Amino acid sequence: MFKNIPKPMLARMEHLEAVDRRDRTDGTEHLKRLRQVPRITGKFIGLLASLAPAGEYVEVGTSAGYSSLWLWMALKGRGIRHKTYEILPEKAALARETFRLAGVSGDVELIEGDFLERGGSLANIAFCFVDCEKHFYESIFRMVAGKMVPGGLLAADNAISHQEEIKGMLDTVEADDRFDSLIVPVGQGVLVCRRV
Ligand SMILES: C[S@@+](CC[C@H](N)C(=O)[O-])C[C@H]1O[C@@H](n2cnc3c(N)ncnc32)[C@H](O)[C@@H]1O
Repeated sequence: MFKNIPKPMLARMEHLEAVDRRDRTDGTEHLKRLRQVPRITGKFIGLLASLAPAGEYVEVGTSAGYSSLWLWMALKGRGIRHKTYEILPEKAALARETFRLAGVSGDVELIEGDFLERGGSLANIAFCFVDCEKHFYESIFRMVAGKMVPGGLLAADNAISHQEEIKGMLDTVEADDRFDSLIVPVGQGVLVCRRV
């Protein structure tokens, strides 16, 4: 599913990777940086998404849409249109541009706003990728956990790099008998939870 990435998509991915690299070294302020996942994490969440059961596919934290493209690659053969939530209008505009240039605008639903306000009506969640401000992680897990289908997968990035900041979520997951979980040392560390 990661072979033969369409040329326009690959060009946009390489552009975003260059911007992200530059952001991290040139003093760009935190909220303006893309802060996207590295390729290896993109592939990992794509693989996870390809293994998740039927239901809703959701991403919290779109930024410029880089990780969404990895999810798109994983879902394209299955007719699944995933939803991705972004709170900042300027990032949502970048993501819209990414999806247009990559030719996937019709396959990805970009929802502008705070996931905690906009995601309440979701049901039957089969896959959820959490990659937003760390102080939201625990609330997002609490909101999503009861809406996940059996076998559903939730992945949260920065589980090693920001372990202290997301301790509330990690403890909540650990104490929840409905989930098995593991931190996988890929990229910045990805917490993977499976609803039993
Ligand atoms: C780390 S970046 C996401 C990177 C993206 N997943 C990628 O790898 O290409 C985090 C993004 O989450 C957004 N965000 C933060 N809190 C949010 C919330 N409560 N709801 C929706 N988006 C949120 C931020 O504006 C930011 O663009």
